Amino acid sequence: MKYIVANWKMHKTQKQSLAFVKQILPRIKTKRTIVLCPPYTDICPIAPLLKKTNIRLGAQDVFYETRGAFTGEISPLMLKELNVKYVLIGHSERRSILHENNRLINQKLRACLKHSLTPILCIGETGLQRRLGQASHVLRNQLLTALKGTHKLKNIIIAYEPLWAIGSHTPDTPENAEKTNEFIRSVLAKSSSAATAKKIPILYGGSVTPRNAPSFLKKAAIDGLLVGHESLLPGHFVKIANCAP
Ligand code: 13P
Repeated sequence: MKYIVANWKMHKTQKQSLAFVKQILPRIKTKRTIVLCPPYTDICPIAPLLKKTNIRLGAQDVFYETRGAFTGEISPLMLKELNVKYVLIGHSERRSILHENNRLINQKLRACLKHSLTPILCIGETGLQRRLGQASHVLRNQLLTALKGTHKLKNIIIAYEPLWAIGSHTPDTPENAEKTNEFIRSVLAKSSSAATAKKIPILYGGSVTPRNAPSFLKKAAIDGLLVGHESLLPGHFVKIANCAP
């Protein structure tokens, strides 16, 4: 079963989120797993609308402690109580703008697993790293440091999001993205086992649109899509969610 994950980033107020959900609910006709990752402030009002639907809730981040003096942070327990099932971890915007390092990402990922939240670990290389032939090295390093200390690779999703493709209207090609996802799976297989690695969904993200979504979803090695700006428009998001194949 493939995933369609919407990352709304810092867009939509509560009112706008509610209006969005009300518009898409009757129009989503797919067996895929649909996950909405709204800003924290929108989770509470939209959660009741998503009960008894096949749309799940995700958060865009989480802190690794459960409670305490951590001003501004949100704990896994707070998210769980709101019926959040998934959490984006290590998104490139948090890595670059908020200076999240691999150690912090590892702590957050482990906190998710500890509290039965499914982390969607985002990894990706910059355009320069790709041009210099460093993409594999960067991806392997991001992956292995984030997964350090995790014993069973279960309930984890990986999202390959090349930084140069995010918000650039220049997506990777489905062929390249597929090859990269195969590479990511081979790294996972080495750090666990081929059988375990096979079960981990690996998504693609970066300038996904209703037009290009089908060609990514056709690829066997691409287990779904992480969608940014095109997930903000109800009509476009519904098209991506429902598209064939
Ligand atoms: P865009 O779809 O806007 O390129 O963003 C991708 C992304 O960052 C999703 O997490």
